[in-house]
Amino acid sequence: MTNLKSVGIIGTGKYVPEKVLTNSDLEKIVETSDEWIVSRTGIRERHVAAPEQATSDLAYEAAVRALASAGLTAEELDLIIVATITPDMAFPSTACILQDKLGAKGAAAFDLSAACSGFVYGLATANGFIQTGMYKNALIIGADCLSRITDYTDRNTCVLFGDGAGAVIIGEVPEGRGFKSFDLGAEGAGGGLLKLAAGGSRLPASTETIENKLHYIYMNGREVFKFAVRVMASATDVVLEKAGYAKEDIDIFVPHQANIRIIQSAMQRLELPAEKVVINVDKYANTSAASIPLALVEAAEEGRIQEGDRVLMVGFGGGLTWGASVLVW
Ligand code: ACO
Repeated sequence: MTNLKSVGIIGTGKYVPEKVLTNSDLEKIVETSDEWIVSRTGIRERHVAAPEQATSDLAYEAAVRALASAGLTAEELDLIIVATITPDMAFPSTACILQDKLGAKGAAAFDLSAACSGFVYGLATANGFIQTGMYKNALIIGADCLSRITDYTDRNTCVLFGDGAGAVIIGEVPEGRGFKSFDLGAEGAGGGLLKLAAGGSRLPASTETIENKLHYIYMNGREVFKFAVRVMASATDVVLEKAGYAKEDIDIFVPHQANIRIIQSAMQRLELPAEKVVINVDKYANTSAASIPLALVEAAEEGRIQEGDRVLMVGFGGGLTWGASVLVW
């Protein structure tokens, strides 16, 4: 293909709610221990939204910061994609709610549901619009309030999740920079391993769905773990090959922050030293769609990503889905 523009990240922002829920707080709620949580997951604490905060509020805070960092006004946005599995409501979309809050009157807006892979799915989608010249500036946000769909009586899941939002603005960048490759995929057959069963058209909310706790995340942790290790490896190989890079060429690895052991298995396979890997699962836990952008934006803000660095992002999640990308910062 000819005449496609180079597209990359031109602004970043993140937000986590103030309230912190530590492992010792959870010890008071369910039969668990800091030792179990840290050794099995690497998580020490997570942030949870205040009662009055919904996903669009977290997304708004991250978006305002990303716009400031890009030096753009909301009116200059052409497209808003919010990747989330915890929208404010079924409809209107969280992206439309955000468009109004930001005053981004000229922007098309929609939500994208690919769970923890949603942010990378969103980047790939917006990349296509900008590459072809249809749009100039797009705001991509991964935002989730998993605390709202977490059963705090179920120790198998309640220790794993947190709330947050990470945002980027993408637009045209100089040739040689920006996105080099994407790999998106899905295995819908595994959808039952990780789901929120009720509240949709299959099982509308009823007293029965509430009694059966069907408005909370259900997860078969062991099977999701196996899937995660497998697709983190395969998706990484695909994006490296498509970009024409070897694993040694990667300067910064930004994996989905679900479990330290899943990240470590990817690090070992790629023979990556700790300084090349972004890990913040200890502070934020698994924030689903917000996980990769929170890690990416935090690393950029800490100066760990320099101009020209080759960044590899990879995530997996409900669907089941996966998404990976290589970009030159
Ligand atoms: N505290 C203490 N014990 C616990 C806890 C807890 N919080 N949770 C589970 N246990 C117990 C279990 O009951 C089980 O006990 P049993 O053997 O008597 O039945 C024991 O610990 C071991 O359970 P396992 O499931 O084997 O533990 P495992 O080492 O697999 O770790 C975990 C569980 C952390 C969930 C892991 O499987 C995992 O990380 N899976 C992947 C999850 C993931 O990445 N999800 C991402 C997608 S999320 C999204 O898309 C929204």
